[in-house]
Formats: sequence, structure tokens, C-alpha cells
Amino acid sequence: MTLWHGRFSSEPSAELWEFTESLSFDKALALDDIAGSRAHLAGLERAGMLDATEAAALVAALAQVEAELMGETFSFEPSDEDIHTAIERRVTEIAGEAGAKLHTGRSRNDQVATDMRLFTRREMTAVAARILQLAQTLGDLADEAKDAYMPGYTHMQKAQPVLFAHHLLAHGWALSRDFDRILSTIDRMDVSPLGAGALGGSSLPLDPGYTAALLGFGAPFENSLDAVSDRDFIAEALFDLSLVGVHLSRIGEEIVLWSTEEFAFVRLDDAYSTGSSMLPQKKNPDIAELSRGKAGRLIGHLTGFLATLKGLPLSYNRDLQEDKEPLFDSILQVSRGLVAVRGMLQSASFDYARMRKAAESPYLCAVDLADFLVRAGMPFRKAHAVVGGLVRDSIERQVPLEELVSAHPLLGEDAARLLEPGESVKLRATRGGSGIDAVKIQRGRFVERLQLDAKRLDALQPDAIA
Ligand code: ARG
Repeated sequence: MTLWHGRFSSEPSAELWEFTESLSFDKALALDDIAGSRAHLAGLERAGMLDATEAAALVAALAQVEAELMGETFSFEPSDEDIHTAIERRVTEIAGEAGAKLHTGRSRNDQVATDMRLFTRREMTAVAARILQLAQTLGDLADEAKDAYMPGYTHMQKAQPVLFAHHLLAHGWALSRDFDRILSTIDRMDVSPLGAGALGGSSLPLDPGYTAALLGFGAPFENSLDAVSDRDFIAEALFDLSLVGVHLSRIGEEIVLWSTEEFAFVRLDDAYSTGSSMLPQKKNPDIAELSRGKAGRLIGHLTGFLATLKGLPLSYNRDLQEDKEPLFDSILQVSRGLVAVRGMLQSASFDYARMRKAAESPYLCAVDLADFLVRAGMPFRKAHAVVGGLVRDSIERQVPLEELVSAHPLLGEDAARLLEPGESVKLRATRGGSGIDAVKIQRGRFVERLQLDAKRLDALQPDAIA
């Protein structure tokens, strides 16, 4: 029997049930649903809708249901449409009459919106913690790399030597923005929908502010129609997760390239690589590839859900049930990806000698020669043309650039020294640049940023009492 059987003369068809149920995936909300019910029953008691005995019976029933769910002894019935109905049914079995009062002044519409906010707040906080860990790992790898340098690329063409630490920290800063973005999403979603009822609030003397505080939310809703139909926070979370996925994908793409025999900048640990079923010699960077691949799925979840939302009139529509699977999957995939990429990077061996060798070409220091001429008073555009001419000459006549530079009246030996491997990387001393000292300073700022972020994360744990 359904919760809503009263108005119906026949049981729902099997096809309807199969197509519309959400229990198969919304079990993930079970503990949040119980937290929401605890706050709601405290609100009912405070409003005089439950006496102390009834409230105590409900508290005990919810505790028992929670224990059954955690111990996996909870038995679901075929008539349980979703996790909310399953829990209410069981509470009523245990608490009798009092159980039947639990849904007073509440609808599944404000209930599910509350559950989803509790779930998203908690799970996105956990994702933020994992982002921070990966960012810390990138910082540690940057320390290990010391002054190792590699070619920096634009258009996938070697451009200038850069410190490997600088490259790693570039990914680190992107992750720190992801962290910040998630925290601001959590901040914006810090509103309780409980008390909005089906769509219009309640005629009973309930206090949404009281239950909001019990659940550790910053404020109750301002508008009941908005409260039951707003899923902006889920779209935002899906965007935040997509962008984390995109960042993991970019790291993944580099690891795929770098682990090729052609680059060989990195060797992945066996525990973080896979083999081929046919080719015995193969060692494949599957974590890196799937970081790239799964980004597509995350973006799909975001765009799919935005499409679900775009045509919806106010207020609650069953379409909104489609918020769950994309969100649950995106959180799961990103959480696993963050941990796997971290393990892959921590256990990898980076071949600094190979990187240095790849950056040895004197052509990568061409701009330093131009800067040399600029220091002597030549306009940059002219200096660019002079050095460009020397590079072309060197390539066409197959004469080493060093020789041409040494022999050049405006350049000479001092300028030729700039072409020695590792010289160029020392020169870029400006803030945020890839010079050795600049990267040291940058690394210090990154440490400060991560320490601050760790504090922000600690402060985020909600002090809900429900
Ligand atoms: N399973 C539903 C969802 O996830 C719960 C709310 C259903 N409300 C309703 N009035 N049918 O959205």
C-alpha cells in the first residue's frame, strides 16, 4: 500500500512503479532523511503537535531505523517508493500512532529538498578535503623536484625551459580554485527548505528557523515555492565537479604523454598501471586515461541536469527526482579520481635527467637573447627579428646557435652563456615566473594558501544537533 492510497481505487501498475521509483538509488539519502526527521519531530513537539510520549516514541523508532539501516538489517518492502516512504513506513510499524504523526506539516517535497542539501553539503565537503590532499601532494612533488627543469610548451611545441616545480604548482593552483569554488557553493546552499511543505508552507504553527538551526543550516528558506523547486545548488555542484574533472583530465593527459617512450619524463608505479591482455610488454597509464575519459561523463551529467531544469514551471515537479543519479555519480567518480590520481603521482618516478635533456635545445633560450639585446637598448621588435634571423640561419646552415651568437657583434660570449642549459631558467625572477627564486616564493605562497584552506575546511563541519 502506498502512502497516498487514500484517493486511489486501484494499486499502481507495475510499469508505473518501475519507471517512477527512486528507492534503487536514493537509499544514499537514508541517514540525511533520518536527520531531517529528527529535526522535524523536534519542531512538531515544540509546536505542540506531539506530546512528550509521542516524541519519545518517534525518537526511539528513528534510532532503531537508523540502526537497522546501518547494520543492513532494514527490510525494504515492494511498496516502498523511495527512501522517504520506506523510513516513514518502518517508523510507523515501530511507533504505531505516533509514527503516523511524523509527516504532519511536511511533504516529501520539502523533505527531499532538505535531504539533498544535507547530502550535498557533506559530500562536497569531503570532495573539497580530497582536493586539498591532491594539492598538497603536488606541492610535495614540487619540493622533491628542487631545481629540475623541463621544456615548457605552448601549442605543444617546446617554448622555454621552466622548473618542473613550476609546472606542478600550476596544476596545484587550479585545484585550489576548485576547492574555493566548492566552498562558495556550500556557502550559498546553506539554507533549509524544511517547513515549506508541498509548496505553500503550513497552517500549523511550525518554525522553519528552529529546524534550520537544528540541522546546522545558516538560515531557513525565504519562499516556500522556491524552497521545494530550487536545485541550483545541485547544478552548481555538478559544475564544480565537472571542472575538477577537467583539471584531473588535463593532468591525466600530460601523464599519458609523459609516460610514452618518446617523452619518458615519468615512469608509473606498477600498482598504478595496468597491463595488456595480448601484448606482454605493455604497461598502460589507465588512471590517467580514465581521468581524461570520465571528464566527459561529468560534463554530461551537468548539461543533462541543466536540460532537465530548464523547462520546469514552479514548483516541485517529479522531473526533479532526476537530480540524484548525476549528482551521486559525479561525486563518486570525482572522489575516486582524486584519490587515484594522487596515488599515481605519489608513486611515480619522474626522470629529471630526461626532462633536462629535452629542454637542452638552445632555441628554447631565444627570448633570453632578445632580452639581452633589449638590455643593450635595442627595441624588442628589432631584437626579436635579429634573434629570429640567427635561429633560421642556424637551422638552415646547420651551424650551432652558440657559434652564431658568439660571433655576433651585438651578442658575443656573454650572450652565448645564456644558452647554456639551466641558465635561462634562473633568469626569470619576476613574481609568479618560472625562475628558481620566484618559484621558491610561489611555493611559500602555495603553502600559506593550503594552510588557510585547511582551516576553512575545519570551520565548515556543521555543528548540527539534530
Ligand atoms: N522521490 C522523490 C524525489 O526524489 C521524492 C519526492 C516525491 N514527491 C512527490 N510529491 N511525488 O524527488
